[in-house]
Amino acid sequence: MKKFLGICMMFFFVFPAFSQENPGLKAIVNHYAARNFTAGDISRSDLDQILQAGVRAPSASNRQPWHFTVVRNQALAKRIVSNIVEGNVLIVISTAGGQREFLDCALAAENIYLAAQALGYGSRLYTGPIDALNQNLKGDVGLPSGHSAVILVRVGRVQAGADAVSAASARKAANELVSYK
Ligand SMILES: Cc1cc2nc3c(=O)[nH]c(=O)nc-3n(C[C@H](O)[C@H](O)[C@H](O)COP(=O)(O)O)c2cc1C
Repeated sequence: MKKFLGICMMFFFVFPAFSQENPGLKAIVNHYAARNFTAGDISRSDLDQILQAGVRAPSASNRQPWHFTVVRNQALAKRIVSNIVEGNVLIVISTAGGQREFLDCALAAENIYLAAQALGYGSRLYTGPIDALNQNLKGDVGLPSGHSAVILVRVGRVQAGADAVSAASARKAANELVSYK
């Protein structure tokens, strides 16, 4: 009987805490920018799904002005992000457009960043290396003609068990950022 009560208590008190987590929101709310990548490959089917999240991103007037260049070559990846870890992939998002298209690229980058984490990988957005990439590495990376890189997403393996609470930095409180009229 005691065991039964114990199981009931677990069901009522523990399970609801998880069951209330909407699966769609979970990846959006629980993300963090990976700092400690570990060596290891990303499977081709996972990579395809991650890229599909970029392809499916919304864009102004549905112009889809982006291109996704997947840098798997480790030597080249290291020239873009110096502390690359074996197996990391860089997805460079580029456009031939201007400010509006930059915004579209940012949304595609966010989709890719979140999709990678939803599949259990670590990911991190980077704009720091973009100027150097555009100045020196466009040809090596093979961006489409007329394109400039806007942002890149680094995807790789991370130690299991890291979560947004232990790994992400603090966020401002919602009541500081949100107002209602
Ligand atoms: C537009 C953008 C550009 C970023 N560029 C870099 C970068 O160049 N280098 C880097 O280490 N992190 C970069 N980041 C990662 C941020 O530093 C990170 O998302 C932020 O500190 C929050 O991290 P957290 O979610 O783990 O708390 C960038 C993030 C964004 C959104």
